[in-house]
Amino acid sequence: ELSRNRCDAVSSSTTGVTELAEIDWDKIDFGLKPTDYMYAMKCSRDGEFSQGQLQPFGNIEINPSAAVLNYGQGLFEGLKAYRKQDGNILLFRPEENAIRMISGAERMCMPSPTVEQFVEAVKTTVLANKRWIPPPGKGSLYIRPLLMGTGAVLGLAPAPEYTFLIFVSPVGNYFKEGVAPINLIVETEFHRATPGGTGGVKTIGNYAAVLKAQSIAKAKGYSDVLYLDCLHKRYLEEVSSCNIFVVKDNVISTPEIKGTILPGITRKSIIEVARSQGFKVEERNVTVDELVEADEVFCTGTAVVLSPVGSITYKSQRFSYGEDGFGTVSKQLYTSLTSLQMGLSEDNMNWTVQ
Ligand code: COI
Repeated sequence: ELSRNRCDAVSSSTTGVTELAEIDWDKIDFGLKPTDYMYAMKCSRDGEFSQGQLQPFGNIEINPSAAVLNYGQGLFEGLKAYRKQDGNILLFRPEENAIRMISGAERMCMPSPTVEQFVEAVKTTVLANKRWIPPPGKGSLYIRPLLMGTGAVLGLAPAPEYTFLIFVSPVGNYFKEGVAPINLIVETEFHRATPGGTGGVKTIGNYAAVLKAQSIAKAKGYSDVLYLDCLHKRYLEEVSSCNIFVVKDNVISTPEIKGTILPGITRKSIIEVARSQGFKVEERNVTVDELVEADEVFCTGTAVVLSPVGSITYKSQRFSYGEDGFGTVSKQLYTSLTSLQMGLSEDNMNWTVQ
């Protein structure tokens, strides 16, 4: 583990590192707070990733012709570390992120770190930035692994060199609403993904592609956009940054994974938790009409965790859910998931890594 002295030696003037004392843990949002260290590991095409290392958090040098800058050959991941009351640190299902990065890398013609390299790198980065993990119950340390084609290309081709990089930031609630319900609008003009495209992997371009619809929605006062499938314009897909679930008569339904929807790790965890508690969970085509009759709607994601949806607007009609907080099913699942993540309940699933 790195010594405190070494951490302190990295001054905010050279790296933009936040001062710990500046953070109000009761008001922390989902914004970047630069920390002491990031981690970098390089790889040549078809080669293996070499031993990575920590370096002070800061700007990186990149060739203007890098494939990631010119052709979007890049992936990212998101996971979280939590501080427990007893001081121990927990990671939530990091090997799932490693596996998802490997499958995304395959789609994007990139080499990827092995599961072991990925998890080891995450642990090293979290330990080096340990002092930035929020106190128990006040948030988490968001971990952002990136895989980028950093080698130079001009003609369209996979990069000859890749960089795996991890940086972290302490975070609180993703939506400005906090844990209060969010208000969505169903997007009828723009689409997030197409069959055969890259909607099912965490490539950087998927997120740039949603900014336009998201900013129009935000300007109208909505929290975010709910996308429909591009062929029938009828089936729910996902929200810009999270998956969607609909509850009707205690049956929980969510769009099935079929290439256009991101296979969320929180999505998968919620399905497993719900089934273990006796709920019927259906992964299937969920139609936009089902929003009319739904009892509860909620979103899941690493950043979002589980966020109740208070209303959804579709073609000028507004459907509202619940009173003004969590519905019964969403609350139960939120509590079960966060208790596991924060180490407040026994982890029978072996999902947390110390
Ligand atoms: C996450 O939930 O970790 C994501 O990657 C979504 C991102 C837009 C914050």
